[in-house]
Amino acid sequence: MADISVDFAGVKLANPIILASGGPGWDGEHLKRCAKAGAGGLVPKSIGPPARWLQHPRTGRMALVKVGKTVIGMINLELFSTLPLEQWIEKELRIAAEGGAPIIASVVADPEPANTAKVAKQVVDTGYASMIEVNVSCPMPVEKVGMHIGRDPKLVAEQIKAVKEAISLPVSIKLSPNFAYIPELAKAAEQAGADAITATNSVQGLYGVDVETGKLVLPAFGGYSGPAIRPITLRCVAQAARATKIPVCGIGGISSWRDVVEYIMVGATTVQVCTAVMWRGLGVFKELADGLKSFMERKGYERIEDFRGIALKDLTTVEELAQRKPVHASVNEDLCTGCGVCERVCSYDAIKVVEGNAKANQELCDGCGLCKAWCPVEAIDLI
Ligand SMILES: Cc1cc2nc3c(=O)[nH]c(=O)nc-3n(C[C@H](O)[C@H](O)[C@H](O)COP(=O)(O)O)c2cc1C
Ligand code: SF4
Ligand code: SF4
Repeated sequence: MADISVDFAGVKLANPIILASGGPGWDGEHLKRCAKAGAGGLVPKSIGPPARWLQHPRTGRMALVKVGKTVIGMINLELFSTLPLEQWIEKELRIAAEGGAPIIASVVADPEPANTAKVAKQVVDTGYASMIEVNVSCPMPVEKVGMHIGRDPKLVAEQIKAVKEAISLPVSIKLSPNFAYIPELAKAAEQAGADAITATNSVQGLYGVDVETGKLVLPAFGGYSGPAIRPITLRCVAQAARATKIPVCGIGGISSWRDVVEYIMVGATTVQVCTAVMWRGLGVFKELADGLKSFMERKGYERIEDFRGIALKDLTTVEELAQRKPVHASVNEDLCTGCGVCERVCSYDAIKVVEGNAKANQELCDGCGLCKAWCPVEAIDLI
């Protein structure tokens, strides 16, 4: 029997699938429901913003990103929790805890680290939190919060030091995917005493324009989430896992058990899910946990540790790959239908359909792999 329980920086979770900070955890009652539906842990909407941010737009703040009719992501214009700190402390965290899943309380980083630490301590003093997640990564604020703190390793370290001095629970830092230098940021957090890294928040985005009116659909920079951002956030998780020895929680575009496995294979110990829960409901927690368990049983993995990080050993650089022996396209004529897709996408004129069958020219082929990626019947190999 596969065991999907995990130890995340000293916090024991029945499964590694955690509700991320966001809409589904806006108050205690909704957090409790997520726990009852099988979430391994709960991250409430980020607690403790300055009073002027205790509200978010109620002018329509979400829109789906589509390619044709296919939905690939979502942009939202939400800041932090709209409930005051006192309400979380007096009521909401207690109700959330009734669900039985550990609470990883997300705290808004204030430009003054001592203020962040003060909020973290008040939350911890309730006795309902098992861990603090410091949010230095909200992509929306224009003032000096969110990713304006999270882009600077020095500011990140100051936040962690202040929070660590104030509380004795483990502390994670939630990074932004909007910067290339995740290793530096993750290392700075680790050296300052962070117990874990949460990677990552949403990607900063601008939704789009109604071309008939020339008006922006969502007239502010927002947070891009959902399946489309997964390659970006997966990159951040791999970078954080390679750069540090502390556990990493992966977030971004998780919608299936396969995504969960991918994150674990690039080094995540736990994962968080937000958009998939908003789109498909609370059944997502059980679906992902059951899928993860079945996968592990099929592969003979007894524990998550058995396959955590296994994909990282193949991670190299583009420079190194450029030195390797080139491959070229080869067509399986039995499978080829002569559709011509490969000919259209080849920038090197190296593959042509002749008498109903694609023929690759080894001399011209540059080994890019685009024809293989597009072939609808998997008739092309790179050899
Ligand atoms: C509507 C919405 C509100 C969010 N609010 C917060 C927040 O208050 N604090 C935070 O750290 N992240 C917040 N996030 C970011 C998510 O926690 C998560 O990092 C991001 O959406 C990527 O994961 P996903 O693709 O599974 O949604 C929010 C995301 C959404 C969609
Ligand atoms: S895309 Fe595939 S099926 Fe279509 S012509 Fe090329 S090899 Fe044949
Ligand atoms: S691998 Fe690239 S260069 Fe070679 S045939 Fe296919 S598309 Fe053309």
